[in-house]
Amino acid sequence: MLLLPALLAWAAARAVAAPTSSPKPQLKGIIKGQRKLTFDAAGNFKVVSFSDMHFGERPGDGSWAAWGPEHIMQDAATQKVHGAVLDHEKPDYVVFNGDIITGENVFAFNATGYLDQAYAPTVARKIPFSVAHGNHDNANNINHQIEIEYEQATYSELSYTRSDVGPKPYGSGNYWVPVYAHRKAVVPALIMWFFDSRAFVSGTGNGPGPVPDAANYYWVDPETVPAYMKEQRELMSKTWGKVPPALIFVHIPVQKAQPLASLPSAGDHDDEPNPSAQGFLNNTYTGLDLPFWNEIIALSNQPAGNVLAVTSGHDHGESWCARSLNISASIPICFNGHSGYGGYVTKNSALRNGRVFALNLRDLGVTSDGAAKIPVVKTWNSYEDGTTAEEVVLGPDYMKEFN
Ligand SMILES: *[C@@H]1O[C@H](CO)[C@@H](O)[C@H](O)[C@H]1NC(C)=O
Ligand SMILES: *[C@@H]1O[C@H](CO)[C@@H](O)[C@H](O)[C@H]1NC(C)=O
Ligand SMILES: *[C@@H]1O[C@H](CO)[C@@H](O)[C@H](O)[C@H]1NC(C)=O
Repeated sequence: MLLLPALLAWAAARAVAAPTSSPKPQLKGIIKGQRKLTFDAAGNFKVVSFSDMHFGERPGDGSWAAWGPEHIMQDAATQKVHGAVLDHEKPDYVVFNGDIITGENVFAFNATGYLDQAYAPTVARKIPFSVAHGNHDNANNINHQIEIEYEQATYSELSYTRSDVGPKPYGSGNYWVPVYAHRKAVVPALIMWFFDSRAFVSGTGNGPGPVPDAANYYWVDPETVPAYMKEQRELMSKTWGKVPPALIFVHIPVQKAQPLASLPSAGDHDDEPNPSAQGFLNNTYTGLDLPFWNEIIALSNQPAGNVLAVTSGHDHGESWCARSLNISASIPICFNGHSGYGGYVTKNSALRNGRVFALNLRDLGVTSDGAAKIPVVKTWNSYEDGTTAEEVVLGPDYMKEFN
């Protein structure tokens, strides 16, 4: 059997990996001194997720000379989109779901300035936030690790982004954030999980740069992240007697999103996920994205339906949610649409949007008549012109005919 060079490199790296010592596992999302995120008095917690902003993108031919008013207007327009959606929805939390910048177009000396621009509308409104980084956030002059460290140092009051595990510097943004029913609650009512789907966009603008093989995989690292998920899930179960319902954010969609796309679901279908961008190398499916997916299934069986949604960006013309027993083990997979004026535009994605998740304690089974029930979450797309659409309730009744 012919092995791809990249796979050989991966196998070699794996073979020489030092044996890991196993310190006592900790619940990584419980951080002393960090402000607790809570549901409000009415039991609501609302998340707005923005993806594919592409700040700092040079329009036109992408040459170094193309920094100009067009580019500045593009980024200002993206800030207006975020401001409009935030003022309309008034969320409790913002998720930047990747491709914040167009990293191959930025200079090292001021690249983080584009993060400031991307977070500005959220920061101005004092909304806590965190990030799941995208492929365009990795390039020769900047990478996920630099962005995480800059964000932590600059926005320590509002940022919840961490790097618990994963290959540095391209794939280290893997972590979870708890949300509690109220300030005194000990067991979280919801866990937001964030994963780093890696990949690397080569180039500094002066021609393609060296792309390390290990940085060019378009899926969550199978070596470190599934073990982390399992460890944290088991520790949650042991500590709290349950694994709280989960919302998952990852920039590049899991491979299972591709067959789900053909099902009838509300939202844009302009840009159906391309398998070659998820677990494929050289037109060959490697299966290396499956360890991550299998851990999502394990997280969802706590009991069944525990994963409310897995949400991605990456494909700007996709803005639907779908679920199928046959394809995704009934775990809903959603797309963010397109919140930026940077990046390519498809026919139906010209009106920019964010995706909203409206959570309620009753829907999560935290306050109820005591009957065990499968958690649900309401989600819709919220557009820059103040309209909303594609509202659905993700849960056991969603797309029942396929489940
Ligand atoms: C893909 O296949 C081509 C042609 O066989 C080869 O030159 C190239 O190195 C391969 N790329 C990877 C990532 O395996
Ligand atoms: C970074 O520097 C370039 C070149 O001087 C400039 O055109 C651009 O506006 C700067 N970007 C930021 C975010 O400061
Ligand atoms: C699921 O798969 C089974 C076995 O292939 C098939 O019979 C069934 O029609 C499928 N159901 C749906 C809803 O696609």
